[in-house]
Amino acid sequence: TGALSAEIDRLVRDVEGFPKAGVTFKDITPLLDDHAAFTAVVQALADAGRDAEGRVVVDKVVGMEARGFILAAPVALALGVGFVPVRKPGKLPHETRSVSYELEYGQETLEMHLDALDEGDRVLVVDDVLATGGTAAATVSLVEQGGGTVAGLAVLMELGFLPGRETVGALPLTVLHTV
Ligand code: PRP
Ligand code: MG
Repeated sequence: TGALSAEIDRLVRDVEGFPKAGVTFKDITPLLDDHAAFTAVVQALADAGRDAEGRVVVDKVVGMEARGFILAAPVALALGVGFVPVRKPGKLPHETRSVSYELEYGQETLEMHLDALDEGDRVLVVDDVLATGGTAAATVSLVEQGGGTVAGLAVLMELGFLPGRETVGALPLTVLHTV
């Protein structure tokens, strides 16, 4: 809704020059610190895992380290399904699958446990920000290689001046706020 988007706009803080000069960081900590807004955000993201009648249509919620965890875990609880972490390299203890993708400078890798999903699992992917889409696309690839199908991608915020939407392709996309 417009009201939730306005609340997100009010509670996400722009920090100029973080983590380096020329970058404006979207700081979600004021939003997380506001119980009513955090609750509304989790409920709106969880709706991406329900059909029009309110039935839960996903088997798992996948969230990406680190900020994605904060939103994805409560979304999984709200939907009554399991939570699966996608992590940065070397953090997951059991057998993993890796996907690497290009950043502006260099490469990033994400990992998921081989046994995290069952064949045919319908997955809702949840993160805080969709920017270039690299993180989300890599996560979609991990889910698909793991035997799952991505039912949707739900993010708190989309940076509309970046091509994230094109990068992730045709999957159902839920965005609570666009900047
Ligand atoms: C940020 C953000 C998203 C990602 C979006 O994560 O939390 O996950 O960037 O960017 P993209 O669409 O260009 O991939 P970051 O890797 O900075 O780390 P964090 O979540 O661990 O803070
Ligand atoms: Mg992140």
